[in-house]
Amino acid sequence: MNCELLNKNYALLPESYLFSEIARKIAAFQEKHPEREIIRLGIGDVTRPLVPAVIEAMHRAVGEMADPATFRGYGPEPGYPFLREAVAAAEYGSRNIDIGPDEIFVSDGSKCDVANIQELFSADCSVAIPDPVYPVYLDSNVMAGRGGRLMPDGRYGKIHYMACGENNGFQPNLPPRGTALIYLCSPNNPTGTVLSRATLEKLVAFALDTGAVILFDAAYADYIRDDRLVHTIYEIPGAKKCAVEFHSFSKSAGFTGVRCAFTVIPREMETLRRMWLRRQSTKFNGVNYIVQRAAEAVYTPAGREQTRDVISGYMRNAGVIREGLRKAGYTVFGGEHAPYIWWRLPDGVKSQAFFDFLLEKCAVVGTPGSGFGPEGEGFFRLTAFGDPAKTREAVSRIAEMPAFPA
Ligand code: MLT
Repeated sequence: MNCELLNKNYALLPESYLFSEIARKIAAFQEKHPEREIIRLGIGDVTRPLVPAVIEAMHRAVGEMADPATFRGYGPEPGYPFLREAVAAAEYGSRNIDIGPDEIFVSDGSKCDVANIQELFSADCSVAIPDPVYPVYLDSNVMAGRGGRLMPDGRYGKIHYMACGENNGFQPNLPPRGTALIYLCSPNNPTGTVLSRATLEKLVAFALDTGAVILFDAAYADYIRDDRLVHTIYEIPGAKKCAVEFHSFSKSAGFTGVRCAFTVIPREMETLRRMWLRRQSTKFNGVNYIVQRAAEAVYTPAGREQTRDVISGYMRNAGVIREGLRKAGYTVFGGEHAPYIWWRLPDGVKSQAFFDFLLEKCAVVGTPGSGFGPEGEGFFRLTAFGDPAKTREAVSRIAEMPAFPA
């Protein structure tokens, strides 16, 4: 093969995706130490099974697929009306936000949608991302050639990094004028912190003023415990003219292996909405019927109650981690409205080195903060998605961990 033909932007990326690299390190450690019981609080993957309301809906849908009278082949690319209507009513109508089914696009995951949406924008448009944040926003733009030069400090020359840390209460400043795409994630992965209404109002006003587009990832919105906090960007006046929103059933209903999500592009952004429809109907054939019926069941009264219970269980884990680490003398953030705890490491400790140390000493897996951006250096992420007993065990192993060598 002639390598000149390949997309050279890929050469600018780290060798492997953050969580693939972690999986590789875990496998290598387990092979070397088969006797050690590893506790995995690394990737944010759910551990509780699907709730009964979802399972019953899936069984019913499987039955329909077995009957010639109700069997279905290709579905509508943006999703079946029954699911789009359920989403519009439950996620938006219930908050008095006018989002209709035609503004909702069902997909097989927010990861794919947040990675694919950049295709609709010009190849040279400028991008701002929070730092730290879910790595897919950056990687997908680097693949598309919007990263620019990879600098010695690990930053890409053309990307604007919006630092979100202790200094600014995890609230980003406005990006420079001329920024075209602004990615936001609230509650944030990895810091577990939430963007305030005032921050979002400022960013929406900026986008309306400059013509920028906000790409708002709300994958963890169901973990917000305080109704006064912003659950959807469309609570902010004017956001329907400038913001696309991504939601997922992965973390809210345990669908990481089942795959279902939705993206909202309001009518007020009609050209973009039509372009996304064009893209999806060309490159995607929709989510299967059984899974869409399963997602619909999340919004039934039983589905809501059952998924709420599962989320409460994960949030109890978050409390165990947060309080346990604090008691052990560490500074932690997040974990109050999100299933992630953001752990500030002792001064000078690098997060990659700490990953290896924690695995070696405690057989506990987390995620190095530097994997989420340069501002993540010196931090470490733990997820609350583990089994409760194993989570408690991980916290007590950490409390007894020897000091990191100076
Ligand atoms: C994470 O651990 O950051 C997430 O699980 C990744 C994802 O949702 O794709």
